[in-house]
Amino acid sequence: MINIAIDGPSGGGKSTLAKKIAKELGYIYVDTGALYRSVALYMQRGGVNVQDRAAVIAALPGVAITMKHEGGTQQVYLGDEMVGDAIRTPEISQIASLISPIPEVRAFLLSLQMEIAERENVVMDGRDIGTVILPKAQVKIFLSASNQTRAMRRYKELTEKGIQTTYEEILAAMNQRDEQDRNRETAPAIAAPDAVLLDNSELDPEQTLQAALEIIRSKLG
Ligand code: DC
Repeated sequence: MINIAIDGPSGGGKSTLAKKIAKELGYIYVDTGALYRSVALYMQRGGVNVQDRAAVIAALPGVAITMKHEGGTQQVYLGDEMVGDAIRTPEISQIASLISPIPEVRAFLLSLQMEIAERENVVMDGRDIGTVILPKAQVKIFLSASNQTRAMRRYKELTEKGIQTTYEEILAAMNQRDEQDRNRETAPAIAAPDAVLLDNSELDPEQTLQAALEIIRSKLG
């Protein structure tokens, strides 16, 4: 199976790029952030104190999480319920960032991610795909952009969905989350040594896709 890993900080355009690559190559797109977000949603709904690691770990066995991929889109289910956009709010972003460093949470989501990459050609986006989940991926891209660019993109994305927020709020939250994600002990969001760095601050989504396809072609031949 061909595995393509796309890592990088939030708002860099990973999911947009990964979706486009998957469509172009006929691969399955796996959004791993949605898994952490879904665990976060479960904790929030259950009133779990997410600052308390032991409480989060104790609640984990109740999380019944599955992924389905149909027509190029991924849907995550908590039990029978499709989570949809409920995992895209700023509050869930913050909770996901708080719980994702917990080794037990990562271990809980590990097999789900590894198994699908064994069965299918995938483009998987996340933070530790090239380093931990798919260390043998044939192609690894670390995608980033300046903080301001990333915050503006996320701001537009949320306001288009009707979620009320400000650019300043997003930028501050993003800086804080980046810091948390980079400095955590477990699976920090850093590039694998064999990843190709791609900065798309000055590129639109189509140009980013072309740059990525070039990298993919050079790796796969
Ligand atoms: O990519 P995203 O914004 O949907 O990710 C949500 C949170 O989950 C973010 O704080 C980073 C974390 N995450 C992670 O730790 N590992 C992944 N593979 C994907 C996301």
